[in-house]
Amino acid sequence: MKVVILASGGDGPGMNACIHYLTKFLHKKHEVYGCLYGFQGLIEGKFTRITPKETKEHRYKAGVFIKSSRCPEFKTREGLNKAVQTIITNQIDMVVVIGGEGSYKGAKALKEEGIRVIFIPGTIDRDLIYDSYTIGFYTAVSACAHYISNVKPTMEAFDRTCVYEVMGRDNPSLAKMVGEIVQADMVVTVENVKRFNYERFIKMHKENPVRTIILQEKLVPIEEFVKKLADACGGGVRQCVIGYVQRGTPPIKMELKLCKIFAKLAAKAINNNMFGVATCINEQKTTVIEIV
Ligand code: F6P
Repeated sequence: MKVVILASGGDGPGMNACIHYLTKFLHKKHEVYGCLYGFQGLIEGKFTRITPKETKEHRYKAGVFIKSSRCPEFKTREGLNKAVQTIITNQIDMVVVIGGEGSYKGAKALKEEGIRVIFIPGTIDRDLIYDSYTIGFYTAVSACAHYISNVKPTMEAFDRTCVYEVMGRDNPSLAKMVGEIVQADMVVTVENVKRFNYERFIKMHKENPVRTIILQEKLVPIEEFVKKLADACGGGVRQCVIGYVQRGTPPIKMELKLCKIFAKLAAKAINNNMFGVATCINEQKTTVIEIV
């Protein structure tokens, strides 16, 4: 079969490893191609043959060597039609989509057009409609924890509180897990931002001014939030936007293992001519489920 792999949306550390393992598991029986720039490449027919020899070079690196994109055109009827036409013209038998919530919707749209598709969760946001680990999530958590551990000593030296903004888009999973790992004093997410208790913060600050606060991105402008805290406690509050190190950090070992499991699940599905499914790893199961 002619199998095309694409990555879409924000890259996640481990995507390269997953593409490598999948290529390795498939290349003896199938022709494997990378689709450059995600769904945009699918529309434009940007395919490149990939082999394990080539993918091996990238397997421990962050980013995604076949490139990603956000593709508004694919969300239109016209864009989707073009992508379907390209798939047919190029005689592609199976499309593997790696990405987050938006990419899942893209995979679903292809499935509904009769395209044989397999979805692999890949995003640091862990924001899927079904419960699964997503490629990049644990490395992003680890990158945040590492970053915070390198900032905290200087906050301690000046008796300061620091607010750390983490990514995650609309999903609180990343902020919550970072908060847990670094034993943050407060974790502000979409679930509790409206109930943020300044009185509680003032009380905590009086007991000990060295406080760690994790803030999920896109909720409130961090400058405003920090100013409010500083005004409430008389100063000594700083901010750090952790940013793209969450995506650009090389995958941790556990991430690589999980990527390999995802690749195995996808390869097994492809070899069994199973499609319209998504790979899934959570506390209960390691399996493929129907794309719905
Ligand atoms: O979806 C992954 C993510 O890193 C989000 O956490 C973040 O909001 C967004 O992508 C940033 O997107 P961009 O790379 O387009 O700035």
